[in-house]
Amino acid sequence: MKKALLLAAALAVTTSASAAGKLEIFSWWSGDEGPALEALIKLYKQKYPAVTVDNATVSGGAGTNAKAVLKTRMLGGTPPDSFQAHAGQELIGTWVVAGRMEDLSSLFKSEGWDKVFPKDLVKLISQGGKPWSVPVNVHRSNVMWYNPAKLKAWGVTAPKTWPEFLKTCSTLKAKGVAAPLVVGENWTQQHLWESVMIGTLGSANWENLWAGKLKFTDPKVVGAFTTFGKVMDCANKDASGLSWQQASDRIIDGTSAFNVMGDWAAGYFTTTKKLAPNTGFGWAPAPGTTKTFVMLADSFGLPKGAKDRAEAINWLKVLGSKAGQDAFNPLKGSIAARTDSDLSKYNTYSKSAAADWKSNKIVGSMVHGAVAPESFTSAFGAIIDQFVASKNSAAAAAAAQQLAVRAGISK
Ligand code: GAL
Repeated sequence: MKKALLLAAALAVTTSASAAGKLEIFSWWSGDEGPALEALIKLYKQKYPAVTVDNATVSGGAGTNAKAVLKTRMLGGTPPDSFQAHAGQELIGTWVVAGRMEDLSSLFKSEGWDKVFPKDLVKLISQGGKPWSVPVNVHRSNVMWYNPAKLKAWGVTAPKTWPEFLKTCSTLKAKGVAAPLVVGENWTQQHLWESVMIGTLGSANWENLWAGKLKFTDPKVVGAFTTFGKVMDCANKDASGLSWQQASDRIIDGTSAFNVMGDWAAGYFTTTKKLAPNTGFGWAPAPGTTKTFVMLADSFGLPKGAKDRAEAINWLKVLGSKAGQDAFNPLKGSIAARTDSDLSKYNTYSKSAAADWKSNKIVGSMVHGAVAPESFTSAFGAIIDQFVASKNSAAAAAAAQQLAVRAGISK
């Protein structure tokens, strides 16, 4: 108790003392992904005009490149003042267990965040009863995007199950659409895999996989790999050379009919491409996942040894605030992590996501750090690459099971 009070006092002193200075924030939100973060930085600068903000970004979807750079910096003892990490095992299983992060309990207390963030989300960013990062948003991973005018012209609708998807795929191929589904580089294929798994196995089995209660070698899972292989047969052959944005472009220009991607795609369609929800782009839950919301959340933490600690704490305060979340999320395609956000600031897509977030079954994303540790996620890409080349479901399932054992997920 005494220790907690002392810590709270230390935080209070350092935050109020910061009038000028520097702040380095680290993320993978550059280029098309940048505007939401810039809106947040603008808000920070309004409050702390004397602070110079270094917006350090390492581009590359899903943080594949940024996470490697972060690792070098953390291990080299030169952490950024605050960095982006997915809520869940990505942060907890690496930097928190390694004792590299600061406990944010007193900040959560002073900002009243225990009351405004959903309990389950607080659980996800906590370890040992203490919160370790501040969530700025909630993204949905299981969304299938399409171009409404093109689907109408082709005479098809968004399929509701993966078997139905395969039928629609044949119909579209017969109509001359060479690649009814568009995917991009490796992580976007893992992203698709996740939706095929959940849409085939169901959300309870998905949870069992990560709780070590269902083995990857179970015939159900092997069968879901086979379905994923058939789904990939419906996709473009130049996938590995496409970013997620380039894959999204092929929906807009009508080269392909469907893309499964997180709702940062909604941010891209509206903020970058200036398209309107429902007319410029359409969406549906990924096949087989109606009433399921596969979630992930971006969060920022405070590494031990941050050079500009007081500025970093103020940064966390801004990104956890109502004003911060409502500046960031309408541009990002995500919804606020806070439960008290002003929905009138959000578009039709985000309003529908917010409604589903309240009513759907919530499960966590593997690819985006919620349910599996980084040791699993970072090595899983090789299994997907091998599977896509060989379509050997049994071999992929066995390799995934070995990896799950190594990562401490399964026995
Ligand atoms: C996710 C991240 C999103 C978005 C996406 C594409 O992992 O949570 O905010 O940036 O990658 O890069």
